[in-house]
Amino acid sequence: MPRKRLAKPPSSPYKKLVGQRINVLLTGSAGRVGQAVVAELQARGHAVRGFDRVPTPGLEDAVTGDVTHASAVQRAMAGIHSLIHLAAVPDDVETPRAVLEELFPANITGLYHVMEAARAAGVKRVVLPSSGQVNWWQQQRGPWPIRAEDMASPKYWYAATKMFMESIGRGYAETHGLSVIVARLGWCPRTPAQVEEIAAEAWAQDVYLSPGDAGRFFAASIEAPADIRFATVYAASQFIHKQRFDLESAKRLLNYEPREHWPQGIEFLLGR
Ligand SMILES: NC(=O)c1ccc[n+]([C@@H]2O[C@H](COP(=O)([O-])OP(=O)(O)OC[C@H]3O[C@@H](n4cnc5c(N)ncnc54)[C@H](O)[C@@H]3O)[C@@H](O)[C@H]2O)c1
Repeated sequence: MPRKRLAKPPSSPYKKLVGQRINVLLTGSAGRVGQAVVAELQARGHAVRGFDRVPTPGLEDAVTGDVTHASAVQRAMAGIHSLIHLAAVPDDVETPRAVLEELFPANITGLYHVMEAARAAGVKRVVLPSSGQVNWWQQQRGPWPIRAEDMASPKYWYAATKMFMESIGRGYAETHGLSVIVARLGWCPRTPAQVEEIAAEAWAQDVYLSPGDAGRFFAASIEAPADIRFATVYAASQFIHKQRFDLESAKRLLNYEPREHWPQGIEFLLGR
């Protein structure tokens, strides 16, 4: 009598990457958020390659190059499993010329080269930093907390470039099968003047993103289950007055929960 085959346990597509050493390319590695992410990824034992148009301090494997140069981006992508694409002009700019010569090239052309190079290199996961500014008017007027499903209301041109990035992220996930996570970030200040602005405004304190939480958020994004096809999540530190962003999907999908709140972490920002 033929032996009865044992039923195989159902194979789960849920592959959590925690504990694995992941090869990560981090564009914008020399910047405010980039430096916090480098520190957290290195602390977790991941292999980090930086890419920035200025040198990245404290990172051995760092390429100095511009995301608007396709060949430089393609070379940096070799052997990469996960991409965090931070390099961008990170806010609106003052003049029409700067819109055309700085914002659009970095945020649109650079995005094109980075996504194409990632697809060609077989990158599995792409994390795209969007901004709370894509739903600016609801952020200011409510209703709160804002969820990813709420209709966007971009502040201006910078936010519009982030909407473009969100859209093409979805396009690559559906067309090419990359796992794409869009992260709508709160406010991680880059200058002492921005720290003062946050200190003066209750709403800004509620969307504050500390460097430590930013680092943990992006590390959680690359360690999250491989079967995420496309997700949009908000990322911020803990609110103080009113919850502006719904962080539930970041918790459910990425296991991210903020540990800090305003003004924790500003000593890092002010270089103290
Ligand atoms: N800090 C925030 O509050 C915040 C909020 C929402 C979204 N973001 C997004 O997060 C990302 C990082 O922001 P940040 O605050 O660290 O800004 P940042 O200006 O400190 O860092 C951006 C980095 O990108 C690099 N870069 C810019 N253009 C480049 C190019 N053409 N080629 C190569 N490198 C280039 C810069 O040299 C810089 O080191 C950006 O995409 C920004 O839009 C930031």
